Amino acid sequence: MHIERNVSLRDYNSFGLPAVARTLVRIHEEADVRRVVDHPELGIAPKFVLGGGSNIVLTRDVQPVVLKVEILGKRIAEEREDCWIVEAGAGESWHGLVEWTLDHGIPGLENLALIPGTVGASPVQNIGAYGVELKDRFDSLDLVDFTTGRRATLPRAACRFGYRDSIFKHELAGKSLITRVRFRLPRPWQSELGYLDLERKMHEAGISAPSPRQVFDWVCQIRRAKLPDPAVIGNAGSFFKNPVVTEEQCRDIIGRDPEIVHYPMPDGSVKLAAGWLIDACGWKGKSVGQAGVYEKQALVLVNRGGAIGAEVLTLARAIQESVYGRFGIRLEPEPVVL
Ligand code: EPU
Repeated sequence: MHIERNVSLRDYNSFGLPAVARTLVRIHEEADVRRVVDHPELGIAPKFVLGGGSNIVLTRDVQPVVLKVEILGKRIAEEREDCWIVEAGAGESWHGLVEWTLDHGIPGLENLALIPGTVGASPVQNIGAYGVELKDRFDSLDLVDFTTGRRATLPRAACRFGYRDSIFKHELAGKSLITRVRFRLPRPWQSELGYLDLERKMHEAGISAPSPRQVFDWVCQIRRAKLPDPAVIGNAGSFFKNPVVTEEQCRDIIGRDPEIVHYPMPDGSVKLAAGWLIDACGWKGKSVGQAGVYEKQALVLVNRGGAIGAEVLTLARAIQESVYGRFGIRLEPEPVVL
């Protein structure tokens, strides 16, 4: 096991924010986690698991031991009559996995194309886009417990998935490292085309029964048009979750702002488009230092070049205050702030 000291994390977070990891260990296989757990110094130290760094805001140097997950491998674990089970190492690129499954004739992940980050991070925040969430395609995962060094397999119910949420953000935060994830991709494939942007694409192309590859291409086009490529402009995707309010609260807001974008949920609550709320407060294109609000999508904060974490946080707080002042709604950040 190679222990690295004082490693710059600038290239390891999609926001491109400067911070240094005091101690960093690259995890290539399950046994590496056990080596960390058994190590006299690292074993007892707090730990931070780093995947693709696409959902973090680094505001200072990182004191916990950074475990950078680089476990690779993709395989079709099982081919059943009603589904394929695909397994991938936690360090694999998420989008790479989506492409790989389609190349192998296995559809089901196409709506989740181009989401930045790694396979291991995907269950942590239950990634979702265009009508599909990871939990809809999830089978199980393997993790190694930091206290015991033992491996465990968690089925879907144990992960307690919610909207951009899971047990790994709560009870299991900082307690284990996800090594492998298995996906259950149902056969026969059924398209998920209910999202407005996709309906628009179908209409424009005059295609009513698109192939999985066609859906993949559309999702890539939609995302490229709206969301900044982190390789070009640093960002962490949606910076805030879409807030959920009661029907009564929503009626009250609609009374004042009839155009508010909102989606009724099956349980009677209503989800509001945070991007719309932020946009309505006039934030698009605004900046604090080198941290800014993306011009094409107010929900995304960007690094205009050389931003520091404190600037991102100051901007985020100013947005939260102004949305609260106008709508009485508290926006909750989606990325982990360190
Ligand atoms: N809107 C505005 N102004 C803006 C941004 C959005 O008026 O500046 C309006 C849009 O016109 C639209 C509505 O708000 O009517 C919702 O916007 P959009 O369809 O772009 O989706 P979103 O709610 O902003 C969510 C996810 C994205 C995911 C898309 C597609 C969250 C927090 N974000 O965005 O996920 O890709 O839906 O499913 O749930 C991510 O989590 O990082 C992410 C990018």
